[in-house]
Amino acid sequence: MSGRKKILVTGGAGFIGSHVVRIFVQDKAYHITNLDKLTYAGNLENLKDIENESNYEFVRGDICDTQLVNKLFESNNFDGVVHLAAESHVDRSITNPLEFVQTNVIGTLTLLEAAKKNWQGEKKKLFYHISTDEVYGSLGEEGLFTEDTSYDPKSPYSASKASSDHFVRAYGNTYKLPFVVSNCSNNYGPNHFPEKLIPLLINNIKNKKNLPIYGEGVNVRDWLYVEDHAEAIKLIFEKGKIGDTYNIGGFNEWRNIDLVELLCDIMDRKLGNEKGSSRKLIAFVKDRAGHDLRYAIDATKLSDELGWKPSVTFEEGLEKTVDWYMDNEEWLKDVTSGEYMNYYNEHYASS
Ligand code: NAD
Ligand code: DAU
Repeated sequence: MSGRKKILVTGGAGFIGSHVVRIFVQDKAYHITNLDKLTYAGNLENLKDIENESNYEFVRGDICDTQLVNKLFESNNFDGVVHLAAESHVDRSITNPLEFVQTNVIGTLTLLEAAKKNWQGEKKKLFYHISTDEVYGSLGEEGLFTEDTSYDPKSPYSASKASSDHFVRAYGNTYKLPFVVSNCSNNYGPNHFPEKLIPLLINNIKNKKNLPIYGEGVNVRDWLYVEDHAEAIKLIFEKGKIGDTYNIGGFNEWRNIDLVELLCDIMDRKLGNEKGSSRKLIAFVKDRAGHDLRYAIDATKLSDELGWKPSVTFEEGLEKTVDWYMDNEEWLKDVTSGEYMNYYNEHYASS
């Protein structure tokens, strides 16, 4: 194990975190400690294939637990942190904002304090904070978010992420903590919890349930395959400039309704349904409160400076995603049982 870079990944049992953990563990130059509380969104099944690797360790715990976080820093002498743990679902932040402040703001501060205390100004360390394009607010019909776009968060989720981004930069400025931040657009792919649009639709089409589309379905999101995000994170961790911000996105904007129709057609083909049958499940429901109209990322800096580009087209990525959900019935059943169904029934009953 000697000579390996020791990295603390937080939230590694979640959707994006599981892909990030996997690509770092596959590179034997690293030793990964994955700290995850295993909330409803965390699932160790996502990491089954790498759980016995000698350069991987899982620790169940809360990023807000100062004692635990300090103990991990003291006993591991981490070279870096890749911080993904968060409450991530906008709808849940509307009903329970305090939980988002606790995990996303206090949790991030707890990690920053531990890094400050244990790294003592060492310049070779790196605190990498994973954030979202939602901190920039909502776009009109035109324009893209760049790294210079002013922050204008509009949901409790994005306000909590914006706050954590500000704290990371404040620690860089005030205490000289070496950091990097990236802000990514909407991810999709395997291990995505089926409360988010794409996996929710796949699951509902499979079960012939309604496809709830908020408002008129004209909101625009910019979609990126999760493995491409994970690759970008590893690249930024290794080559990003300290103190910089990188936007990550695939220049892939879709109106929700167009995306839903495309997905319906792919699912009809996979399920052997008559063409057009899944589209009949589309149901327009009450809009999300404060629903941001459009997100779109300008990822030019990342491609120009670090040479990153996405590896799959949206059509390829969606095919891979649908195939994964078709092949992983048990995973879907497990995560949609119990607590999740309570959330689903309550949330969509009020729509
Ligand atoms: P997710 O909800 O799927 O996973 C979050 C993980 O964090 C889970 O494993 C959960 O158990 C863990 N966690 C939550 N609270 C914790 C706590 N207090 N202590 C320790 N672990 C805790 O989220 P995701 O979609 O994978 O997002 C990961 C990160 O990427 C988040 O910071 C999110 O803001 C950011 N992000 C997500 C997207 C997206 O499209 N999903 C896009 C851009 C940025
Ligand atoms: O932009 C990055 C963000 O993308 C991440 O920071 C968040 O963690 C992630 O959850 C995601 O946020 P969104 O709110 O954009 O994703 P969601 O899948 O919840 O919704 C996508 C769009 O689909 C949005 O316009 C709302 C709409 N929607 C969503 C759901 C769950 C519906 O129309 N119906 C639904 O049932």
